[in-house]
Amino acid sequence: MIKIIPINYIEIDEKIDEIRKLDEVMVGRYIEKYESGTSKPILVKRIGRDKYILVDGKHRLKACKNLKRNKIDCELFDGDDIYSKAVEMNQEHGIPLTKEEEETVLINLFEMGKTQEEIAKIFHIGQSAIAMRIKRNPMLTKSLCDKTNISSVNEIINGKKHEEVANIYGLSRSRITQIWNDWLNELTNNYNNGSTKQEIVEQESEKGIKLTLEKLNELIEEDYNKLIIGDCLKEIPKLNNEIIDCLIIDPPYGQDYQSHHRNNKFKKIKYDNQKAFDLLDNSLKLIKPKLNKNSHIYIFTSWKVIEKVKPIIEKYFDIKNCLVWDKVNPGMGDTVGGNYGEQYELIIFAKQGNKKLVVDKRPINILSFRKVTEGLMKHPTQKPIELIKELINNSTKENELVVDYFAGSCSTLTAAKELNRRWLGIELNEVK
Ligand SMILES: C[S@@+](CC[C@H](N)C(=O)[O-])C[C@H]1O[C@@H](n2cnc3c(N)ncnc32)[C@H](O)[C@@H]1O
Repeated sequence: MIKIIPINYIEIDEKIDEIRKLDEVMVGRYIEKYESGTSKPILVKRIGRDKYILVDGKHRLKACKNLKRNKIDCELFDGDDIYSKAVEMNQEHGIPLTKEEEETVLINLFEMGKTQEEIAKIFHIGQSAIAMRIKRNPMLTKSLCDKTNISSVNEIINGKKHEEVANIYGLSRSRITQIWNDWLNELTNNYNNGSTKQEIVEQESEKGIKLTLEKLNELIEEDYNKLIIGDCLKEIPKLNNEIIDCLIIDPPYGQDYQSHHRNNKFKKIKYDNQKAFDLLDNSLKLIKPKLNKNSHIYIFTSWKVIEKVKPIIEKYFDIKNCLVWDKVNPGMGDTVGGNYGEQYELIIFAKQGNKKLVVDKRPINILSFRKVTEGLMKHPTQKPIELIKELINNSTKENELVVDYFAGSCSTLTAAKELNRRWLGIELNEVK
């Protein structure tokens, strides 16, 4: 059915416009045809009241505009797939698309989910001819591959099964699974390397992947924000390399510690003897590759064993300072006045690479924080959360990863969590 429609009711969709560049010579030819009354109607689709979208006839529409006509003869298209119809009509005109035009059209059709077979029908050629066109053009192959990957991932995010997506794109099921797994791995690595979830969603959206925060939470298996119960010597090797921004450990000091004034509420700390130095040495050796190239290390110790601990740390890291934790309210200690009371412990501050402190004002190396009140203690050598927070604040930015593989009562992990850092702990005996 032919309809005469006002030209200003007809819009040209951007994607349809880019199928073929406007050619002024062709417009000229159509002007002649309109003047001699031999032109054919253009093809449009009605999309609303007084609103039509052009399917085929860009040059004819331009010719009419150049002739200052207000109306044009139109045939109405009642199908839904305007783009495929537009490509098909272009083919019927017998004027081949340029290489670039054909490339754009092929990419668009693949992006719309068309199979090679369907595209072959639209182009009125055999399927193998389409396959050849893709193969002959490395840019197109790469581009199609990227687009297919993105579209496949989007289909799976939307709930389609791998099998269904494989059918849509004419690929094998195992290829689709590989595309999906590669994408998931990339996502997880980005996350484990410090990108926030929001950043990941934004990065993926720039690539054309429609990922929501909720979906991301479902997909990412978090490698941190957890306490692993086990031996650090067995668990550290399972961590990914170069993920830790700040290591804070409070190892067994190697001084056979047991409090004498707590009615043996706590058992002795495991390995708190000569073995403690081997444990420290072996664990630092294992953790070294897990630390980022630029990272900070804090190791609690005591003046009583410092001469043994320092050379061990120096084997792996650059010692930069020895901080003093002033406990402010030391315990009663021995009531016999034969010695001075203990009011401080030491924290060795070391670096791998050259991570800077992140605070504006240079902190001093004496840190005064009241020790945990005895009645509130869950662990015999529990460190105050506020003290650890000070170290974390000095050394890390939000979302960086803080690790403590002698976690005890989880003071480091709690401090990191409260400061919006990512955290990971290992502890031999779960502290309830
Ligand atoms: C000095 S405490 C840490 C206390 C902790 N900073 C706190 O504030 O609660 C040392 C901890 O290391 C643990 N530990 C000892 N050997 C370990 C190993 N091989 N792997 C993991 N944890 C171990 C002990 O069970 C103990 O809880």
